[in-house]
Amino acid sequence: MNTRDTLFVKDNDLYIGGFKATDLAAKFGTPLYVMDAAYIAEVADAFVSAMKTYGEGGVAFANKAFATVATAKLAAKHGLWFDVVSGGELYLVKQAGVDMKKVLFHGNNKTPREIDEGIAAGVGYFVVDSFNEIELLDKKAAEAGAPQDVLVRINPLVTAHTYEAVVTAAPGSKFGFAVDGDAFETVKDIVSRKGLRFRGLHVHIGSQIYDHSSYDRAVEVITAFMRRLADEGIETDILDMGGGYGIYYTEKDPHFTPRRYAYTVENIGRKVAECAEKEGIRKPFLIVEPGRSIVGEAGVTLYTVGAIKDFPGIRKYVAVDGGMFENPRYALYESEYSAVVASRAGEPETETVTLAGKCCESGDIVAKDIPLQHAETGDIVAVFSTGAYNYSMASNYNLNAVPPVVLVDGDRADYIVRPQTYEDLLRNNEVPDWMN
Ligand code: LLP
Repeated sequence: MNTRDTLFVKDNDLYIGGFKATDLAAKFGTPLYVMDAAYIAEVADAFVSAMKTYGEGGVAFANKAFATVATAKLAAKHGLWFDVVSGGELYLVKQAGVDMKKVLFHGNNKTPREIDEGIAAGVGYFVVDSFNEIELLDKKAAEAGAPQDVLVRINPLVTAHTYEAVVTAAPGSKFGFAVDGDAFETVKDIVSRKGLRFRGLHVHIGSQIYDHSSYDRAVEVITAFMRRLADEGIETDILDMGGGYGIYYTEKDPHFTPRRYAYTVENIGRKVAECAEKEGIRKPFLIVEPGRSIVGEAGVTLYTVGAIKDFPGIRKYVAVDGGMFENPRYALYESEYSAVVASRAGEPETETVTLAGKCCESGDIVAKDIPLQHAETGDIVAVFSTGAYNYSMASNYNLNAVPPVVLVDGDRADYIVRPQTYEDLLRNNEVPDWMN
């Protein structure tokens, strides 16, 4: 586990903020997502101050990693911008009252309705990603009577070292205009349109990336492209380098601190400044879009142990009251996690167990073959680094309720997402009259 001031073990008990994990489980029930507000704030502040070392820029929280109104408000309070990728996420940031000028609307296939909603909401920037979108947005923005600021998503063809499902800048990716393909003509086309105002470029090379050289390479490619545009008299005011910074999940991973994340952004900033100078172009306003690194380690999921099945020499299953409906990442990516028994967190991990979920699928696993303290039915198990892409990817599979989320801030702990009821699960069900 990656301990810190707000995540530690005392007298054998796991603490999150000022709370014993077992007390949170007793009060709010399990499965339970617990989010640590202090950690989110600390990482946000670290990123914002790192950006100051570069100069003019913005740090946009990638809302897809963890989307709730409360955390959007918290992020806005700490000076973050927002990356949204659907009408739903746009609605969320509006409800949170964030400054729409600091919202970037992403998506490789925005629907006509989403384009309308983005224009009506007055989002700062559309990050355009297809000819179809450019055509529609141009027409609709011209009708609305105000040109829309746009960034253009470019695929820099830099393959980051991470798992395949989250690589976004390989040749043939569904995202962006290829830097060696349509990108150049696309920007020229946008510049010629009345409804659109070309403001800059966006690249996002993938997620859960540790290797910094991929970002360096992407900066080199994109600044060379900016030089090509400058030769045509096209200025790139803004460069949005996306997100993707890897976090700690297991002992195989580096132990990150907010300060360490800040270095990542400082490095990108330094590289952008250096390459801008080398290419003889103006230093752009720089945007970064971290998601996982802001909320990932802020999250801990608490479960109650139920069934235990031991197959000597094969595998010991410790089944928990969650599973792929609240954390689909093992099923999707064979993701790895670390965990403790919350009331024996200081004891050595004497067993190797597989935390299984409760869904009707063999692949419904939370963490496979992990070291754990001896667990018994009724124990509370805490799985770490579950703040990103767990709640935001949850579903009601098998009609399991999506667990509630509790935000812990020092000695306060409150729901930011209430528990779903059985009625909630059937809320949109209808039985047509003719069936009665
Ligand atoms: N910007 C754009 C345009 C993105 O597509 C993403 C993530 C981010 C920023 C934030 O990336 P982050 O800093 O969170 O790595 N569901 C996968 C991750 C998908 C990432 C999607 N895009 C997972 O659970 O690993």
